[in-house]
Parts: sequence; structure tokens; C-alpha cells
Amino acid sequence: MEKFILNKLIELKDEQIVSFHIPGHKSGKIFKKLGYDKFLDKIYTLDTTEIEGTDNLHNAKEIIKSSQERTAKIFNSDESIYLVNGSTCGVEAAIMATCEPKSKIITNRDCHQSVINACILGNIEPIYIKSNICKETNIINGVEVKEVKKIIDDNLDAKVIILTYPTYYGSVYDLKTICEYAHSKDMIVVVDEAHGAHLQLSDELPKSSILQGADIIIQSTHKTLPAFTQSSIMHINGDRVNKNKLFSMLRFLESSSPSYLLMSSLELAVDIYDKYGQELMNDLLDNINEFKLNINNKFNKDKENIIIRNEMDKTKIFISLKNIGITGYELDELLRQEYKIQCELSNYYGILLICTIGNEKEDFNKLELALEDIFIKYFARNINKDNKNYKEQNNIYKKILKMSSYPEEIPIKAINPRDAFYSEKKTIKMEDSIGKISGEYIIPYPPGISLISPGEIITTEIITYIQEGVKNGMIVSGIKDANLEYIDIIDIG
Ligand SMILES: Cc1ncc(COP(=O)(O)O)c(C=O)c1O
Repeated sequence: MEKFILNKLIELKDEQIVSFHIPGHKSGKIFKKLGYDKFLDKIYTLDTTEIEGTDNLHNAKEIIKSSQERTAKIFNSDESIYLVNGSTCGVEAAIMATCEPKSKIITNRDCHQSVINACILGNIEPIYIKSNICKETNIINGVEVKEVKKIIDDNLDAKVIILTYPTYYGSVYDLKTICEYAHSKDMIVVVDEAHGAHLQLSDELPKSSILQGADIIIQSTHKTLPAFTQSSIMHINGDRVNKNKLFSMLRFLESSSPSYLLMSSLELAVDIYDKYGQELMNDLLDNINEFKLNINNKFNKDKENIIIRNEMDKTKIFISLKNIGITGYELDELLRQEYKIQCELSNYYGILLICTIGNEKEDFNKLELALEDIFIKYFARNINKDNKNYKEQNNIYKKILKMSSYPEEIPIKAINPRDAFYSEKKTIKMEDSIGKISGEYIIPYPPGISLISPGEIITTEIITYIQEGVKNGMIVSGIKDANLEYIDIIDIG
């Protein structure tokens, strides 16, 4: 039989993989649990376009307008706009509507690609703020307020700052102070809150940027709440933003036939958030706490054999088995192949799990059992499974994991991203590229953060890091040669 994408999706669904990845509805389990499946069963009959009665996302006056107004109330924003092309288009529209061509925008170096893409499209110069990297885990921890203020002071001609908050890994920082400082310098604050649509569901979670003074906030509802992939929301607060320009830019960048299925899915996610969100979030946080407690009691009494990082946004769990010699890439593979557990991403040191209100207690039980099994199989093979006395662990399987640190230094920019994009390129061997101007991106994926962008000078540190990373299982995107033997550079003669 011919293989369709659909067949593959059905095959995977039948495998009943435990989802610790996006989308937040976790294979639709939450819809069934809360009785929303009755609506979703009819979904194929509901796909439509702008006809009488369905309103128009690009000029909402009726049913879409009232739905968005309800959403704004629930999320405590002045205005909320549904996005059907993901946060990618929200970030791009926000940047290009607020920054004039040839102006500057301040952003964290670990920004999503859409920020740099908007700079290419809009001929905007990005000014980067260094992000902190945890050397033990390669987790990116976000920016420091002191550093942000310094960059603002050094670039008072910039009119906009865009920050990722929380980071992909759930790290946060004092955004309120940054908003106040940026506003005092007459700057608009845009927050890429792609990973934080759920933050207002519990006081145990960091505060959403909606409540901290940001002017435009973009959330990927599909990532951390139960909405279909590509459904996001843009929230607008205060009167610093020219909304006419913003809405025009959204009309340029978003489909002229916005999907009603995605808009409906956003509405359902908001309804679930409103009616059941807090209770489900409390359950989720309890399940996560119990999971951590069990792991620590079982494996970490004497020393940290299974490292768990879960400090700020507690719905993100980073697990590392590096102390027992298993890389994050290996752990990712093992969980998926042997235990049918899919995590969100892996780096050399560990894996990231994205937990949402769509996860059940059972998911954490399965994860706990899988980790126990891996621990016994790969580390303490000689120990009697019933004995559970891991004190006398056998170290023969242990290998030392050590990889070069994530390159923290921001590469020197020789040419603006837009000029670099349109420049003539020359393909050369990767090892000959040090000191040359890159003509393409190098983006370890996920998390999709560019190590080098077009127009920046390639360094030894970056080349070493990716070559070593790829040897160990890292996936790199943004570059033409998937084998990473060659790279396009800009030959300025
Ligand atoms: C920080 C960040 N911003 C924006 C995006 C884009 O979001 P979307 O997938 O909704 O387009 C992503 C996607 O992974 C992201 O990680």
C-alpha cells in the first residue's frame, strides 16, 4: 500500500508513545478526558473559510472578535490576537512593525531564528545580549539584568528590545525590572513567551511577562497548552505599540486564509485553561514533585547519580545521566526505542521533558520505571534487582563524559544579516573557514539557537564545538551541507 503521512501518524498513534514533548495536548488525551472529543470528532466537517457568519481573523468584528476578547480577559491582557502561523509569524510581525528599516533591535543571543529572520526581512540590525550557559548541563539560562541594562545604555538609539522568557529550558529572570528600565529609555518591550503560555496557571510558576509590563507578548499555545500545532496567541498591553502597523504586518506574514480549525483549537485550549487549568496544573506539579522525590530517594541518596534540574518553570524537567556515563543523546534514544517515551530534546549531557496539563500520573510512573531499568541495566548490572542497594555500585560501565562547553562568546559581526543573506557566497572546507565571514547559519537543533549567523566571523571554538557535537549525536540545521564538511562563506575579496 502507498505510504501516506497519515499512515505513519496512525502507526505512531497506535504505538501509544508517552509524550514529554510538544504539542501540549499530548496526543489529544486531554480532549478525551475532559469530554471535548465530541467536538473534535466532527472536525473535518468544520473546516471552512470566510463566509457569512464566520468573521475574518484579519479584520475581526463578530465571532472571532468576541472570542479574542474573552481570551484577553482570561490571560489578563488588554488585547489578544489569534495566530495561525505559530509564534514564528508573531515574532516576525512584532519586530517588523515596531522597528524601522536600518534601525537596531536588542535581543538575547539565544533568540529564536525568527528574530534573526525578521532582521533579514526588515533590514534591522540585531544587537545581542550574552546568555548564560550552565557548564554542567549545557542548559541556556537566559540573560542577566545587569548585562541587559548595559546593552540598553550602550544602544539608546534602539527603539525595541525582544527577549525570550522563559527560555526553552524554563529559566527566567527579573523581567519586570528590565521592562521598567527599557520603558524609561523609551523602548518597546516584546517578549517571546513561546514556552510560557501556561505560566498564569499557578503561583508556583514564574510570573508571565503579561503581568510584568511587556508591551507585546507572543505565546505558542500549542507548546504548553492543549492547542493544535501552529496555534499561538499575541497579547498586546498598553499604548506604546502602533496596532495598525502591527495588524498590517500580520496580514502580510500570515495566511490570507487563516485556518478555522486552528482558531477553534485555540478557543478550546483557552476554555480548558479557564475551566480546568489551575486544578490540572496543581495535579501536574504534584506528579512532578513525587517523581523527583522518588528518583532522589531511589538513586541519589549518596551522590547525584541521576541529575534532575527543575528549578524555575517546574513544568520543564532536565534529566542527566552523565554521572553514570550515558549521554543525553543515548538516553533520548533509549527512552524512545525501548520504553516508548519521547522527550522534547537532548543535548550531550541530558534530555529535556516538556510536561503539560495534558500529562497524566501514569506518564511519570512509566518514566520512573524506565529510568530505574536503565540505571540497573547500564550502570549497576551486577546488583541484584530486588536488593535495590545501589550503594556498592559497580563502576566498570562508567565512562567520563566531557565535551567542549557551549561557545558563549558572541561572534564578531562583520556584515548585517540582511547584507550577508544577499551577498555572493563561496563554498569552502569547514576547517578552512576559521576567521572567515559565515554565509549561513549553524544551528544545533533543537533548541534551534544559532551558533553562528550569516555575516558573523567563524571561530575555532564554534567549529570545534559542532564537529565534536556531531560526532556525539548532535543534529545541526541551517547549513546546506548536512555532513558539515563544507560551509558557505562570504568572499569580500
Ligand atoms: C523561543 C522560541 N520562540 C519562538 C518559537 C517559534 O514558535 P512556533 O513553533 O509557535 O512558530 C520557538 C519554537 O520552537 C521557540 O523555541
